[in-house]
Amino acid sequence: MSEPILRVRGLSKTYMQGKIPVHALSDVTFDVERGEFLSIVGPSGSGKSTLLSMIGLLDKPTGGSVFIEDIEITRASESDAPRIRREKIGFIFQHFNLIPTLTALENVDIAMRFARVPKNKRKKTAIELLTQMGIGDRINHKPSELSGGEQQRVAIARALANHPAIILADEPTGEVDTKTRDMIVGLLKGLSEEGHTILIVTHDTAVSQQTERIITMRDGGIASDKQVDRGVSRNPG
Ligand SMILES: Nc1ncnc2c1ncn2[C@@H]1O[C@H](COP(=O)(O)OP(=O)(O)OP(=O)(O)O)[C@@H](O)[C@H]1O
Ligand SMILES: [Mg+2]
Repeated sequence: MSEPILRVRGLSKTYMQGKIPVHALSDVTFDVERGEFLSIVGPSGSGKSTLLSMIGLLDKPTGGSVFIEDIEITRASESDAPRIRREKIGFIFQHFNLIPTLTALENVDIAMRFARVPKNKRKKTAIELLTQMGIGDRINHKPSELSGGEQQRVAIARALANHPAIILADEPTGEVDTKTRDMIVGLLKGLSEEGHTILIVTHDTAVSQQTERIITMRDGGIASDKQVDRGVSRNPG
């Protein structure tokens, strides 16, 4: 019925370690439908972060292409890449990556400032998102005055600020306790139910089991790609 929101085609990335090539990704192909909540798992070094950083325009592949909503982002010029990244992708990191000198509100606001959203709208949206994340009473706190779980909720609010087509999260629960982990996964799951498309890299089976689809990476390739059956059907490809 609908076009996939994300298409990855023959994606490869080879790093050079001195004179030795490291094939971090080899010929990875898959599609993601709008509203999917999927996890990417696999051993350390299997290429999970490399895959996410190619999709998130943080780095360029050696071969292949990535399309987001029919835009071939892997062809974006250096000057277009930041804008496409801002408009299409929300990134959530293991280490939160908030700006330490700014409050929660300002950390969300700044993402929209780069996108030239007017000031009043930015403030309103930031307060709405932080409230939706359950930290509406913490908006004037700086990251050092927030718990890990609260910081990650600010980061999720920031990732949502510009209504991205897809949200990419690399080990977003890697540094929080199990209770906070379950809270963060619950938030992401709720967002996917609202129609957000979410790709999450994780080592934690308690996290991947909450997602609808699990892609397992091995040696830079896809070893398996499985729907998690919960009685919710997805259109077969
Ligand atoms: N900048 C780089 N330069 C050279 N090699 C790299 C670079 N980044 C990653 N690699 C190599 O590419 C391979 C894949 O790395 P990647 O970070 O994608 O793995 P990962 O699956 O995310 O692992 P982890 O679970 O430990 O985070 C590894 O062999 C790694 O050493
Ligand atoms: Mg990684």
